[in-house]
Amino acid sequence: MSKESAPVSFKEQSTQRYEPPYAHPSGAVPPRIPAELIPEHVAIVMDGNGRWANQRGLPRIEGHKAGEPALLDVVAGAIELGVKYVTVYAFSTENWKRSPEEVRFLMGFNKDVLRRQRDQLNRWGVEVRWSGRKPRLWGSVIRELQDAERLTRGNTQCVLTMCINYGGRAELVDGFNRMAEDVAKGRLKPGGISEKTVQKYLYQPDLPDVDLFMRSSGEQRLSNFLPWQSAYAEFVFLDELWPDVDRTTLYKAVETYARRDRRYGAAVDSAAV
Ligand code: IPE
Ligand code: IPE
Ligand code: MG
Repeated sequence: MSKESAPVSFKEQSTQRYEPPYAHPSGAVPPRIPAELIPEHVAIVMDGNGRWANQRGLPRIEGHKAGEPALLDVVAGAIELGVKYVTVYAFSTENWKRSPEEVRFLMGFNKDVLRRQRDQLNRWGVEVRWSGRKPRLWGSVIRELQDAERLTRGNTQCVLTMCINYGGRAELVDGFNRMAEDVAKGRLKPGGISEKTVQKYLYQPDLPDVDLFMRSSGEQRLSNFLPWQSAYAEFVFLDELWPDVDRTTLYKAVETYARRDRRYGAAVDSAAV
């Protein structure tokens, strides 16, 4: 077979078809950081939408609406920087405590964001995934998530995991229940459960550990986001409210991350000759 007529592999085809993200309106470009200092996995608590709206005399839902372009721009920045995994907290298992109107809005809004943005994300080569608990989550949101997953499966630029009806403790509890079932069925040996086994029972078992954990709005807490995966993450807390965040905020957080000394419990005696 001649070279010209040789079939192009799926992977080659898919890398060729990706569109580069649009430029930031300010002309900002990503900082030059050596590839080994770029976090592979960035987790983001997109917080502060309600305060952003209320500061402007607007209802909280206007803040959620204003947060949509922030997410898109941050994903664009992640692709530019070479961040391979971005995991965002969009609705927690605790967010059901909010008013029925806000919960209803957030369910519909998450569905709409997925529908509106999936083609753009797909063109950029983003693989969309969902992490969260099924019970209680609107069926229409689950279907939208599954559609986005199907459309973008196999894309290789970046994996964007949307955490919707996600709670870190819920994820572990769900995993422990499935482990217990597997022990009862003889598929898993009691006493043989390791950290690797726990990892396998997470909602998205092949996501690597979180390197950089970011939260906007000045709050400095986990709020039940990825506790297992963030055991050794570097934390960067941002004062900006989520609708004011864009890729330049990510650039700064990644610069801060690149200056951190990750020791993982080891130590170097700098007085040693
Ligand atoms: C984050 O913004 C979005 C969600 C939790 C869905 P908030 O709605 O928590 O905004 P604040 O923290 O009340 O300002
Ligand atoms: C965490 O933010 C959840 C999301 C961003 C989706 P919250 O605003 O719900 O968390 P708390 O109430 O400050 O802990
Ligand atoms: Mg909040």
